[in-house]
Amino acid sequence: MTMPEAVTIVEVGPRDGLQNEPRSVTAAVKIELIERLAAAGLTVIEAASFVSPKAVLQLADGAEVMTGLAAREGVRYPVLVPNMKGFDAAMAAGAKEIAIFGSPSEGFTQANINCSVADSIERFRPVCEAALARDVRVRGYISCTLGCPFEGDMDPLAVARFAVTLRDMGCFEISLGDTIGVGRPDTASAMFEAVAAEIPIGQLAAHFHDTHGRSLDNLRAVLDLGVSVIDTSVAGLGGCPFAPGASGNVATEAVVGLLDELGIESGINLDLLVDTGRFICDELGIAYT
Ligand code: HMG
Ligand code: MG
Repeated sequence: MTMPEAVTIVEVGPRDGLQNEPRSVTAAVKIELIERLAAAGLTVIEAASFVSPKAVLQLADGAEVMTGLAAREGVRYPVLVPNMKGFDAAMAAGAKEIAIFGSPSEGFTQANINCSVADSIERFRPVCEAALARDVRVRGYISCTLGCPFEGDMDPLAVARFAVTLRDMGCFEISLGDTIGVGRPDTASAMFEAVAAEIPIGQLAAHFHDTHGRSLDNLRAVLDLGVSVIDTSVAGLGGCPFAPGASGNVATEAVVGLLDELGIESGINLDLLVDTGRFICDELGIAYT
């Protein structure tokens, strides 16, 4: 057992959370959400997405959000970028860290970003080069690592190969997504082990959606392997609009509880976090459970 002493939570609610909600909120509400999350102690908050507004209208105001955010000492605000157009827009809006996102699944890649897996890599390459040339850090996401709505089971070795490609392009961290929440502790561990055979576990993050209620069990399993970066979403909001069956990310509140139970310091003020969850659910017109 190599449980980490400290865990970094990457809060993806303002991006993954809001991209899948039928009701859009204003840029001012997004900014307030992000400020509240930072005040609650989150130090990495994925703040926006510079994708096509035809794909995700809910996040079309990413530039307004980024320019409206006050810089905070010790807090990072990465943004999602699919191509050079998104990269240029993110840079113009002042983003200092970006994330690219792909998958070894052809079916999901077509549905999500409208190209083949090979073409997606050729799209990411100039983005990474341009980012690294400006000292902008790049995170790499891999979707459908534990199962795909189009292709079913995923081969952990295919995930590992894709991770190596992203790492070789310069990604400092690889976030492994259970996009539709079909993983189990054994399959999650096997996939992380396959990737960790190629890339140090400290450079891997767990990005689990909770469709089948197993994300906390799966997180325990990968924490046991030494994973120390976990993606979460306040109030468990989230999902990928292009992955049929995807539901919310594991809730930040639940992960703070899990870390507390395991004696791992999260640095998060749970009361402020719960207030924030209630705030955004009210704005979205949904129940906070
Ligand atoms: P495309 O249609 O192939 O792109 O879409 P295109 O280059 O042919 O351009 C088509 C139109 O989009 C053009 O506009 C472009 O200007 C515009 P038009 O001439 O028709 O008016 N366009 C853009 N506009 C703004 N920003 C841009 C941009 N790029 C092109 N960056 C594209 C390809 C990738 C753009 C599109 O498919 C897309 O935006 N997809 C994003 C899908 C998405 O956001 N999915 C959710 C995020 S991934 C996720 O949630 C999973 C994750 O959480 C991990 C996990 O859970 O597994 C990360
Ligand atoms: Mg996601």
